[in-house]
Amino acid sequence: MSKKKKIISVVGARPNFMKLAPIERELKKHRSLFNHLIVHTGQHYDHRLSKVFFKDLDLPEPDIYLGAGSGSHAEQTAKIMTEFEKVVLKEKPDLVIVFGDVNSTIACALVCSKIHHAGGTIPIAHVEAGLRSFDNTMPEEINRIVTDALSDMLFITERAGVENLLEEGVSKKKIYLTGDTMIDSLVHFSKKISSSDVLKRLGLSKQSYILATIHRPVNVDNRQNLEKIISIFEKISKEALKFNPETKIVLPIHPRTLKMAEKFSLLKRLKNIKNLITTEPAGYTDFIKLLTDCKFVVTDSGGIQEEATFLKIPCLTLRESFERPETLILGSNTLCGLNENLIIKKTAEIYSGKYKKGKIPRLMDGKAAQRIVKAIKTRLF
Ligand code: UD1
Repeated sequence: MSKKKKIISVVGARPNFMKLAPIERELKKHRSLFNHLIVHTGQHYDHRLSKVFFKDLDLPEPDIYLGAGSGSHAEQTAKIMTEFEKVVLKEKPDLVIVFGDVNSTIACALVCSKIHHAGGTIPIAHVEAGLRSFDNTMPEEINRIVTDALSDMLFITERAGVENLLEEGVSKKKIYLTGDTMIDSLVHFSKKISSSDVLKRLGLSKQSYILATIHRPVNVDNRQNLEKIISIFEKISKEALKFNPETKIVLPIHPRTLKMAEKFSLLKRLKNIKNLITTEPAGYTDFIKLLTDCKFVVTDSGGIQEEATFLKIPCLTLRESFERPETLILGSNTLCGLNENLIIKKTAEIYSGKYKKGKIPRLMDGKAAQRIVKAIKTRLF
């Protein structure tokens, strides 16, 4: 067999890390074939959004840290590109793996596709390719479209992704329906997750609380929408207390949300919600434990819709668009937008046992990384 191939995986923001971990483990099993380097762009630099995830997910320290930090989209993307180009020129990887839909993803895909070394560009593999919300006002949607257009291997979590890519004219040869490495992490760490003592630390008991997360720019950067969300939390609180007077709402608060709530002078109103507990952003193990044991989750995250589906936890999604249809069709997810009436109706259904049960999609089987690394092996050797 020919010499070892060098693979660089690029991560930068919180939702990337749990997608990388299973691939890192799988590549390690083939260490005679692959030399795997991890590059952290530094898009997320807070300990609570980054380092704690490396620890929880048993990931090794990144080999290279780019220290990009925050900024406008153009600034952040440009900083990552400038630094990553140096890495690529020095390391000359045989393949670069990018994850999801964050600014780090598009930045590094652009660098690889424009560099000419060894007579060509550097092949890009995109993990979580093909998802489309068809909402171009979301920065993530632009990141997905561009990254997919530039990628050579597109690893897809659910069938709709295949259809989206074929519709965009992507060659079938580049498309791999492999499943969701985020769920691989959940399966792999299930023991560690169940032994987290986060409930005890927060004074909670199983099923006695609602979990909430909110951070999308469309929801939190706009005063009206953030106010509406706080009003939704107030209403959910009132409705839930009717069914269980002990109910709490647990909100691990994202830095963006905190910053915007302060800016709009809405933090006090949020914190005044009677049974709401705000916490620091949770690490991976604690967060999934909170998700596993909650009554239901209210969120605008993408990944949590998948994790809730796998765990069969009712999920009310505060977004107008969606890119993960299986979570809605098969899973325990409902798209609610900021429709208060619908959210309260669903809250009542959940407490009275009438909410849909949800099924686990076939490809959420904990083996996505195995399929991905097998495809990479076939491609590179
Ligand atoms: C990014 C992703 C989003 C993902 C989310 C998960 C993009 C376009 N968006 O959004 O898809 O769902 O991460 O968290 O890539 N900040 C800190 N500490 C940090 C990082 C950021 O305080 O470690 C602050 C920044 O100053 C900034 C805000 O949080 O004001 C937003 O950070 P940024 O990475 O730009 O986007 P996210 O909203 O986190």
